[in-house]
Amino acid sequence: MSDVLELVDVSVVREGRALVEDVSWSVKEGERWVILGPNGAGKTTLLNIASSYLYPSSGTATILGERLGKVDVFELRPRIGMTSSALAEKLPRGQTVLQTVLTAAYGMTAGWHEHYDPVDEQRALAFLDRLGMNTHLDRKFGTLSEGERKRTQIARAMMTDPELLLLDEPAAGLDLGGREDLVRRLGRLARDPYAPSMIMVTHHVEEIPPGFTHVLMIRQGKVLTAGPVETELTSANLSRCFGLPLIVEHNGGRWTAQGLPLG
Ligand SMILES: Nc1ncnc2c1ncn2[C@@H]1O[C@H](COP(=O)(O)OP(=O)(O)OP(=O)(O)O)[C@@H](O)[C@H]1O
Ligand SMILES: [Mg+2]
Repeated sequence: MSDVLELVDVSVVREGRALVEDVSWSVKEGERWVILGPNGAGKTTLLNIASSYLYPSSGTATILGERLGKVDVFELRPRIGMTSSALAEKLPRGQTVLQTVLTAAYGMTAGWHEHYDPVDEQRALAFLDRLGMNTHLDRKFGTLSEGERKRTQIARAMMTDPELLLLDEPAAGLDLGGREDLVRRLGRLARDPYAPSMIMVTHHVEEIPPGFTHVLMIRQGKVLTAGPVETELTSANLSRCFGLPLIVEHNGGRWTAQGLPLG
């Protein structure tokens, strides 16, 4: 299996501080990774490198076989789909859901033209249908609920047919029903052999969709563990990662974590 992402001794230094430090990590084709870690651990920084928007201060990053720094990122970026709250903020609030997804095919956050390829429109409709947004096609992006916005963004990220899909806290801000709906949809995507390789950032093990195969835990910029969920997502590792005693359970493909009872 070929490498989708390979980081070797990657550090990112800002204002004399390492945001991530000596990270070595490889993601193979078809793997679905979750990145877990507390606030400020460096999760978004890692995704920004994986999406080619951030260059390491030292070490090497190879994305989809292309070495960052030696590749034309404008050729690489359409091969990567990404969703995050920072990207959502850049999307025009006045565009409809369909326009929001369609414009991704042309590598733009804005700029609606009347003449889109009917094939692209069919693809946009199919992704929106898959994410349960087909009844909201004409709604303005800015009027959507948090959950609807997240689902629209995922459909948008799928538009370029990416080989790598990066999701930064896709379930943040969702209510219980919205979270369960999204986890189910992402689980379906994770099990689809034709779906892209996926990396999802979250703070909560409850948000890990079934079908996700690997976990990377990061704390204060350093990798604590990286490997298959079955062996690495343990109470001991998660406790170390979040800095408090936790019990992790795995039931029916889903994960839960809770603090040890007091006393
Ligand atoms: N441009 C920058 N200059 C200085 N510090 C930065 C910069 N960007 C990020 N940081 C810091 O780097 C650390 C890691 O940030 P990052 O956004 O990767 O964390 P995170 O794990 O995604 O956190 P969260 O769970 O809160 O989203 C944080 O302490 C953040 O304040
Ligand atoms: Mg973050």
